[in-house]
Amino acid sequence: MDYDIKDIGLAQAGQLRIEWAERSMPVLRMIRERFSKEKPLSGIVLAACLHVTTETASLVRTLAAGGAKVYVCASNPLSTQDDVAAALVSEGYNVFSIKGEDTETYYKHINACLDVKPHITMDDGADLVSCIHSQRQNLVDTILGGTEETTTGVIRLKSMAERGVLLFPVIAVNDSNTKHFFDNRYGTGQSTVDGILRATNRLMAGSWFVVAGYGWCGRGLASRAAGMGARVIITEVDPLRALEAAMDGYSVMPMAQAAPLGDFFCTVTGDRSVIREEHFKLMKDGAIVCNSGHFNVEIDIDSLEKMAVSRRVIRGFVEEFTMPDGRRIALLGEGRLINLAAAEGHPSSVMDMSFANQALASEFLVKNSSKLSKQVHKLPDHVDNEIATLKLASMGIKIDVLTPEQVEYLSSWEMGT
Ligand code: NAI
Repeated sequence: MDYDIKDIGLAQAGQLRIEWAERSMPVLRMIRERFSKEKPLSGIVLAACLHVTTETASLVRTLAAGGAKVYVCASNPLSTQDDVAAALVSEGYNVFSIKGEDTETYYKHINACLDVKPHITMDDGADLVSCIHSQRQNLVDTILGGTEETTTGVIRLKSMAERGVLLFPVIAVNDSNTKHFFDNRYGTGQSTVDGILRATNRLMAGSWFVVAGYGWCGRGLASRAAGMGARVIITEVDPLRALEAAMDGYSVMPMAQAAPLGDFFCTVTGDRSVIREEHFKLMKDGAIVCNSGHFNVEIDIDSLEKMAVSRRVIRGFVEEFTMPDGRRIALLGEGRLINLAAAEGHPSSVMDMSFANQALASEFLVKNSSKLSKQVHKLPDHVDNEIATLKLASMGIKIDVLTPEQVEYLSSWEMGT
């Protein structure tokens, strides 16, 4: 298979949308210019399992400019933008992803990207790494390392490293400050609200909006929902995060208490069964339930299906389940990340920094893989600072510079006054 996409005829529409996205990706464009001169990825075969969006297309072009041969598959069955997949194929890339593909096709596409014997794996959720370790360990010898985009993937990888089963080094791109401070918070915040609104067209102002999980994504989502006029409730299991949410001005309570109050529910925990049968039983008629965490396990959909006397798709990305007592609960986007299922994922300006990290992580692996242990590593701090500096410059923002006197003061311990 050279590629497997929905319709090559969508290529032109995809090209235009990629052009639009790239205008807000100045940092990645600068890296691409350097890559095209220096070719740091020359001879590298790279398998990228990412959400196939306009921003990913821009990353693929950057990696290719650096000399890599790039193969692309989706990191979620519902997140592919079919026009972008077509545009990439029309540019000569091998892309294997179709929005709405079934589980069998999803894994067939992942395996197509592994058949090419990649030197670098680029994951969003650790599916390539997990597939290699569970089924295709013969590929390990030629792999320099991997990169990982998201919190859930990093958690999976750290657990593999702790158990001593990780067979090559992985760079946790998610752990760069220029990634999770911005992508997880502002990117997920805005695009999750966007996905919910595109799917439902419901008014948020005055509603009760329940956010499960007050991590990086939850903080962003809560602040954006509040900005739309919603009254926000946070559920948490971590006392520090719960305290932070309370002091940020939100109501904090267990899900069982929030369940009868919420008009909207969105999970962003990276955990499973956060909303389950006991909560569905308490929800009011018309409650809207969705997820923006990586996997579709945060809402116990099996229970919802078993409890329902009937179900119907009432509009795109909205499936309504009717309970025996007549209450209707709407599940959005099959419980998959709603910002990618019903909207377009993060805005390109924020992916500019995430994918600058991905591009520089690939270069870092090529230069340093022989020195790296089979653990999960962070990119060095100077890379984070360089990306932040370039992003500020692209936004026309200048900041102060330490005077020599301040440098001396901040590095000394003698001077107290
Ligand atoms: P995080 O680790 O910063 O936050 C997760 C929070 O959920 C923690 O505070 C944790 O205590 C809390 N939590 C865990 N179990 C819970 C439970 N049962 N009830 C309530 N709270 C619970 O993680 P982050 O970065 O916010 O990511 C969250 C999820 O979103 C991950 O799956 C990540 O991969 C995904 N993600 C999704 C994106 C998207 O585009 N939709 C973008 C970035 C990350």
